[in-house]
Amino acid sequence: MQVGIDKIGFFTPNKYVDMVDLAHARNQDPNKFLIGIGQNEMSVADQTQDAVSMGINATMRYINRIDKDKVGLLVFGTESSVDQSKSASLFVKTALKLKPEVRTFEVKEACFGLTAALMIARDFVRVHPHQTAIVIGSDIARYGVGTPGEVTQGAGSISMLIKADPSIVALNDGHSAYSEDINDFWRPNFSRVAMVEGKYSTQVYLDFFTKTFNAYKKQKNLKTSDFDAITYHMPFTKMALKANRIAVEGQDEETTKKLENSFEAAKQLSRRVGNVYTASLYLSLLSLLENANLAAGSLVGLFSYGSGAMGEFYSGNLVTDYENEIDQAKDMALLDRRKKLTIPEYEDVFNAALEDPEDGQELDSDDEKGTWYFAGTKDHVRQYKEK
Ligand code: HMG
Repeated sequence: MQVGIDKIGFFTPNKYVDMVDLAHARNQDPNKFLIGIGQNEMSVADQTQDAVSMGINATMRYINRIDKDKVGLLVFGTESSVDQSKSASLFVKTALKLKPEVRTFEVKEACFGLTAALMIARDFVRVHPHQTAIVIGSDIARYGVGTPGEVTQGAGSISMLIKADPSIVALNDGHSAYSEDINDFWRPNFSRVAMVEGKYSTQVYLDFFTKTFNAYKKQKNLKTSDFDAITYHMPFTKMALKANRIAVEGQDEETTKKLENSFEAAKQLSRRVGNVYTASLYLSLLSLLENANLAAGSLVGLFSYGSGAMGEFYSGNLVTDYENEIDQAKDMALLDRRKKLTIPEYEDVFNAALEDPEDGQELDSDDEKGTWYFAGTKDHVRQYKEK
């Protein structure tokens, strides 16, 4: 029985910053951000969008095309959690009107969270082949105004339906995992912005990629040339480009070209959205599916990385007619609806979103009709509404 990704839904907030504007404001050469970091734009979440509301909006992209009664598991991966106790997934379950019998919880290991959820869902569907699972990754990457990490911020969510006989990607059994207790990036409870050893984090990312990629090839008796594409966690596209350079090192011209071309396709959405932590690898998978024109059966490698740190490499094969499940025009419209912020406007939105509204204060969203948003708290209970 094949198990894998049957639906993918994507959401990003309705505001963004242009990297050229940011470079000018920070007295940097724009090419440092455009080429050195490899980003064009970054989405910005205002006070009305949080991990929960973005996760609802991503899942709403496909919820009317699935049998809700079959959903037996809902797992939410995030490092932008809204509560120390209650799972983000319970708010989502209510908004989606899922049945009470669903098993639901939140998982965390930095950007690895959605891969953890996906692997739990894969195993769940293997044991319960007549049920399906929803997995969501949703995050706001915040380092702070004027910090070196500022250019690598972003916000968004990816939601996926995992089921038997999937329509998009059939996941292969097996994986190679590697973990170490290190301090490359973390966010203590008191802080809304991440702490990061930036240069160190990039070295660890590449080290974990090398280790897990080589271990996976050995485990499955595969060569680099067997892969039609490799997708990566993309905190910024230059980071993943460095990993892709490692992957093609010493390969023949045909393999190098194949993996370089597929990398170009996989980075397009991340260039405009920025880092979306848990959702980042799957945003790059979506971008690959939309832009690469890969044949059914193509072998796609996936490298997941979560600081702290956890790396994992696994793979899947594209299913016949997977294109029918992808709606590139709608994803482009989602990006194009975003309002470009001036840098002072962005700084105001950013700083306001670091604070919780007063309890009882009602927030309204300026997004399109049908968008879910955080409407404030009543007696410290979070309220989510549809515009
Ligand atoms: P920085 O101080 O801007 O770095 O910080 P830099 O001065 O080395 O410049 C970056 C690149 O721009 C360099 O290229 C420069 O040469 C180039 P590289 O050597 O890397 O190839 N450059 C130029 N290129 C063209 N024209 C120019 C020019 N000037 C310079 N004029 C850093 C960069 C990434 C460290 C910082 O933004 C940061 O700390 N970001 C956050 C941390 C991060 O994203 N780390 C990634 C790995 S860890 C990870 O992926 C996990 C994460 O997603 C969290 C989680 O798991 O939850 C972050």
